[in-house]
Amino acid sequence: MAPTYTAPEVLNDEQLIFQLSVTDTSGQSATDSVQVTVSNDDPPIAYAGTDQAVSEGDFVSLDGSGSSDDIAVVSYRWVQASGTTATLSDATLVNPTFTSPVIRSDEVLTFQLTVNDIGGQTSSDTVQIFIAASTPYSYSGDTKAIIDANCVDCHAPGGRKASSPMTTYAEFMLYASDAAVNIESGSMPKPPGSLSAADIAIMLDWIGGGSPEN
Ligand code: HEC
Repeated sequence: MAPTYTAPEVLNDEQLIFQLSVTDTSGQSATDSVQVTVSNDDPPIAYAGTDQAVSEGDFVSLDGSGSSDDIAVVSYRWVQASGTTATLSDATLVNPTFTSPVIRSDEVLTFQLTVNDIGGQTSSDTVQIFIAASTPYSYSGDTKAIIDANCVDCHAPGGRKASSPMTTYAEFMLYASDAAVNIESGSMPKPPGSLSAADIAIMLDWIGGGSPEN
């Protein structure tokens, strides 16, 4: 009375016509037909975007907008397949973003995109993001100048904080880990002094990397 069937694969949209005949107990019969349109729904094609080369700490956008389907792509899902974990803004967006993670040496992160079409068919593609580790900062080349310009006013003989001088590498190293905390919280340098965001990043990166004396 209620048979079922699986719609066949078709190359183009097609009409199927089913005819039903019923016969009653006295042998009288009648027929009717029903028309079913089977549309041709191709699977989607996932496209995770072109590979990118970025630097540590860069803002990165993934781009799945090149994915296609003959009817419609209805969902996107990104999964990181390799590399230091990056936190995606939203793994179900067509264009999720992330900040490239802090890494020790150059790395490749791989992300896999899976898309679904309206018929539930799926397809996947991967994209590679090459991350260049930033060059380690050095005392002589980077941080001595920042300390000289922002700290030794007070942290030197004759200054407000002459008891903790920071005029040489060895002197600074006695306070390096405290300095990182104070710089990060903004309590050093004392007002009216202040460090630019770039100088803060350099100081923290240098101290965090073991404050090399090079
Ligand atoms: C305007 C003066 C002044 C400047 C500029 C200054 N400091 Fe200080 N610093 C002080 C004083 C005074 C103290 C003592 C604690 C307090 O009063 O908060 C101190 C304390 C510290 C301490 C805690 C250890 C200690 O000696 O007591 C660290 C670490 C420190 N400063 C790092 C820095 C760094 C790094 C810079 C530059 C980025 C800097 N300070 C710039 C005045 C200054």
